[in-house]
Amino acid sequence: MEIGIAKETKALEKRVAATPETVKKFISLGADVKIEKDAGIQSNILDSEYEKAGAKIISDPMELLSNSDIVLKVNTICNGGKGSDNIELYKKNTILIGFLKPLQDKQNIKLISQKGINAFAVELIPRISRAQSMDALSSQSNLAGYKAVINAANMLSKATPMMITAAGTIAPAKILIIGAGVAGLQAIATAKRLGAVVSAFDVRSATKEQVESLGGKFIEVDESPSNNDSHEDSRGYAKTMSAEYKSRQREVLYNTIIKQNIVITTALIPGKEAPELITSNMVNDMLQGSIIIDLAAEAGGNCKLTKLDKALVVNGITIMGPSNLPSEVAQDASSLYAKNLFNFVSLMIQDGNINLDFNDEIIKMSCVTYKSKIFDYKT
Ligand code: NAI
Repeated sequence: MEIGIAKETKALEKRVAATPETVKKFISLGADVKIEKDAGIQSNILDSEYEKAGAKIISDPMELLSNSDIVLKVNTICNGGKGSDNIELYKKNTILIGFLKPLQDKQNIKLISQKGINAFAVELIPRISRAQSMDALSSQSNLAGYKAVINAANMLSKATPMMITAAGTIAPAKILIIGAGVAGLQAIATAKRLGAVVSAFDVRSATKEQVESLGGKFIEVDESPSNNDSHEDSRGYAKTMSAEYKSRQREVLYNTIIKQNIVITTALIPGKEAPELITSNMVNDMLQGSIIIDLAAEAGGNCKLTKLDKALVVNGITIMGPSNLPSEVAQDASSLYAKNLFNFVSLMIQDGNINLDFNDEIIKMSCVTYKSKIFDYKT
């Protein structure tokens, strides 16, 4: 059984799908591991470190991909455009695992299935307890939440903590986090560590306690006392909100946003367009020099004005919509992602051979194509 780790082709992607630590673990499961030359270099992993762990370095992608039974990637995009993967090189029935964008890019999945590749999308690994160690969305979101705050603080022309100096007192920066899921909670923790005054908002009332335990102030939207709805569905995801709630939410957000120096937005219901929470009016009335970082940019953005992977300056307010913050902390992002993949792939290997057990809900729910058929996948 050969496991191949291909170099990433997507522009500005610095992560890699295996580390020397996971290479050793794959070998202990009975696999031969091959890695494309310089695949780890942007995550600060040298070929020599992979070799020391027992992997073979391959210069020719054709040789690597056409012999691998399992290919591990961070991204696989195969539209033939710039940065596209050459899936033509894969042999039939190769197992491909990575972020495959199954909900956003159906064409990508169609092309993968036409090639006879058996593909598993890490985005679809269910967020259940047994799969926590495989949850690549969470490991990467966590780092994105951290990096969003660091980047915003770096761009802000003001200090984040309170400083008492002989020349006067500097007030701490005010940071608002919208969406207190994985990325949002890490953003709150990071902003607190920087000494900012942090507030956060989420439609799920269950997050209030989590926000407060990190030292943030939870922004509440008043509702009629008879409404006991937690705004959460049976799987713990936010529900789509009523028009009445949204209008009250806009009012509360407006009053909060206009006082902030930094706003980080992370609100999303999986598989849906990102809710538009920051209107142009709100942006217009924000403090001069304030910064919005919209993590939901790929899903359309939480701010009306967000442009994917662009930095806009509107009336003195900077709005950023970065698509790949984990790549900016590639060393740690690769380390966590590689562990997620190892834990996931372990489910597929028995006695040194591949054994796909579709009775296992983790395997079943993450599979997008099998034997040239597209699975009926959803979140
Ligand atoms: P998550 O599902 O853990 O958290 C999303 C939160 O948004 C939930 O707590 C949910 O209740 C909340 N939410 C949903 N609708 C809302 C609304 N109308 N108002 C307020 N809150 C609402 O998701 P996670 O993993 O934290 O990811 C958050 C976002 O960050 C996603 O859009 C994800 O795609 C994105 N992301 C972006 C990265 C980047 O580099 N740009 C990297 C990783 C994740």
